[in-house]
Amino acid sequence: MITPALYKNTSIVECPICGSSLNFKDKSNNRQIELLCSKCNADFPFENGSLNLIPPKIRAEICAKGILTRKIKDGFHLGKLTKDEHDLISGILASDNMAKQYFRNVVHPTDAAWSARSYERFEDIFVIQYLDKLLKDKKVVFIDAGSGPGRYLLLLGSKISADSCKELKKNPETGILYRYDSSYERNLSHIIGIDYSMEMTSHSAKLLRRYGLGYCFYDRIFPINGIVQNFHLNHRMFEDTYKVIVCTFQTLGNQENHDLQVQLLKSMKNLAKPHGTIIVSVFNKKLFKSFGLKTFYGREVKKTVGDIVTSKEDEDNFILRTTKGVYSKWFSKGELEGLFKEAGLTNYSIMDEDSLSPISGYEQYLKKEEQEREVFPRAILGLAEIGHEDK
Ligand SMILES: C[S@@+](CC[C@H](N)C(=O)[O-])C[C@H]1O[C@@H](n2cnc3c(N)ncnc32)[C@H](O)[C@@H]1O
Ligand SMILES: [Zn+2]
Repeated sequence: MITPALYKNTSIVECPICGSSLNFKDKSNNRQIELLCSKCNADFPFENGSLNLIPPKIRAEICAKGILTRKIKDGFHLGKLTKDEHDLISGILASDNMAKQYFRNVVHPTDAAWSARSYERFEDIFVIQYLDKLLKDKKVVFIDAGSGPGRYLLLLGSKISADSCKELKKNPETGILYRYDSSYERNLSHIIGIDYSMEMTSHSAKLLRRYGLGYCFYDRIFPINGIVQNFHLNHRMFEDTYKVIVCTFQTLGNQENHDLQVQLLKSMKNLAKPHGTIIVSVFNKKLFKSFGLKTFYGREVKKTVGDIVTSKEDEDNFILRTTKGVYSKWFSKGELEGLFKEAGLTNYSIMDEDSLSPISGYEQYLKKEEQEREVFPRAILGLAEIGHEDK
């Protein structure tokens, strides 16, 4: 149904193909909600409670799922698609494949595999510590690039809504992190998650409803099915709002070619303009063989991602592939810095185990020793601030 919030708030985004404004297709028809680009005429439906901003050309290919999966597997030439579109589609299919198990096995704040959870816990407190300072006196829009089953939508939703996520607020381990905070409710105006997998996006919407946050949809919390590389905000609405854009848990390394990795960072930079911060977290290639292949993908998250099918050449390039189509490239600090530079980011810092410092205040959630021992050797974090001087 088209609610007043929906009317008001769909204007936060622009056409992913040409960047023009989007309008409701038929305002009188409340059953099938669709947005139409005012310039290129592309249509974007609301499906399973979320806006689908995947361009029609790519949507059509994903619908022919079985055929395309086979074509990708057999390496057939897909005449109509560019290399980037082809690589994006294979990522979408891999993600669709994992969506149902991903939250429980990889993301759940208290139940997921510890190797994934300990890393995510550090990302959580890093991001929250950063937001705590900003939200004291700034209006902020938060965007999660590659939001998966909605980890940040849930965490930040919990902080703007006292009545939501009751079990996480009550749990002594997660209570401090997920607690309601009036400065979040007052100043965090939009919490936007973009994920190119419809399965992930609708799963995140389902979870948010289960945790009592459905009432905020398309008012404060926006689960959007879209591609980060071509996601556009309506900047006129947010000139005076600070943006924080995160891309966590190796999502940058899931982009199947160098061009898509640079485009993802460029898009984050554009979203942050005229002022904002981007935070990126990827896995450190130093631990690719000993931890990545053996413990993490080989055992801990194997059930969700499938068996490893990495070739010798991939292994030498610190790239992992699995039977379920997962692609994961691990980086060195210098490589992440190289990508930041190529994306035109200037005011940044790249942190690894030598420069990361433990965060205090969340010891029941992640001890300082755990941060140092379990997370820092695996993590590379990039943080860039975008200001008026950035073109
Ligand atoms: C490794 S998971 C991480 C999920 C989430 N960021 C977290 O930290 O819990 C990567 C997610 O990003 C999504 N994704 C990857 N590349 C994307 C892209 N280019 N555009 C939109 N979503 C993308 C995938 O569908 C998947 O859900
Ligand atoms: Zn358009």
